[in-house]
Amino acid sequence: MATSYAPSMQFTVVEHPLARHYLSILRDERTEPEAFRAAARRLTYHLVETATEDAKLAEYPLRTPLEATSGYRFPQMVAVAVLRAGLGMLDAVVDLLPGVKVGYAGVQRNEETAQPEEYYVKFPVIGDARVLILEPMLATGGSLSWAIDRVKEAGGTDITALCCVVAPEGVKRLEADHPDVRLVAASLDDGLTDTYYIRPGLGDMGDRLFDTP
Ligand code: URA
Repeated sequence: MATSYAPSMQFTVVEHPLARHYLSILRDERTEPEAFRAAARRLTYHLVETATEDAKLAEYPLRTPLEATSGYRFPQMVAVAVLRAGLGMLDAVVDLLPGVKVGYAGVQRNEETAQPEEYYVKFPVIGDARVLILEPMLATGGSLSWAIDRVKEAGGTDITALCCVVAPEGVKRLEADHPDVRLVAASLDDGLTDTYYIRPGLGDMGDRLFDTP
């Protein structure tokens, strides 16, 4: 994208050619919901791999059919899907992360105050697990900042947000509200429209995932 904004927080754009391929399928207005869901799932695998590449493995002894060697166990993590579009990333997370615990955070915009308004929150016990927050479209950052507040209230300290597309406005909001949180995305886009859609973006993620008008 053409943006010249350079975030100061821990921010990684996943540049793997497959990630760029699947993001292009998401962006394309011709992509039908079924292909859109598959591309969201496949893109999320790359985001998860990047968000967990520093995970601390526990070594344990095992035997192959030939001899003794070491195995390595991946730590348990927690995923929190921000409703409803975050559900489009959940299948990949559950598929890839062993024993992942899953929480849900439901927030909607109050049309009068324009503030995020909670309608559903259900988290597992977080303990010292890494928390991956699934929020595919980081536009103004209001919903994600709210979800991070809830995760921190529930005890989360090691938090990474996974996004398909982010706008500079949303990243700046996170830098101000939660500079300790890491952000992994497939693209830093150009900005927002007057109605807070990301440009060039991919349209309304929830509507495109779930085929709603
Ligand atoms: N949410 C979406 O689904 N799309 C955007 O562009 C911004 C927020």
